[in-house]
Amino acid sequence: MLTIGVLTISDGASRGLREDLSGEAIRTIITQFPDAVISAGAIVPDELEQIAATLREWSDEKKLNLILTTGGTGLAPRDVTPEATLSILEREAPGIAEAMRTHSLQYTPMAMLSRGVAGVRGRTLIINLPGSPKAVRECLEYILPVLPHAINLLI
Ligand code: MTE
Repeated sequence: MLTIGVLTISDGASRGLREDLSGEAIRTIITQFPDAVISAGAIVPDELEQIAATLREWSDEKKLNLILTTGGTGLAPRDVTPEATLSILEREAPGIAEAMRTHSLQYTPMAMLSRGVAGVRGRTLIINLPGSPKAVRECLEYILPVLPHAINLLI
């Protein structure tokens, strides 16, 4: 059984001002994932320390196999998800982020604005997805077939 965490990073959603539609999009797609359970979920504001602390706890204490984040990857001043993720990653897996960006350019040139990263902490694979439900679907459905093998390499 693979354990997955879904971390939504959004000032608005964390204050209850906006529905977490992107987190829901991840959960819906993950139901296609064989033998997986979502065993952690949270919504945090665009604050580097809160993001990093959640990723650290889910990797080191909950020892999740996979953490998917959504939001905070763009160029706005409060977009700090990539910096927070890099601050706790031990090894980067740049090919995953590059593949999502390249694939996404067929939908919108705005895809080049996402600075999302991916990599490993301990035995946990961590992947930043962009913030909109549409972007989540386009990116996650593309990388989904690769994830079981990626996770198996870490076990
Ligand atoms: N990727 C895909 N596949 N589809 C999209 O619609 N939107 C882009 C980009 N990546 C998009 C996408 C836009 S408009 C932005 S600003 C960046 O992701 C960053 O989004 P974020 O700050 O919400 O993470």
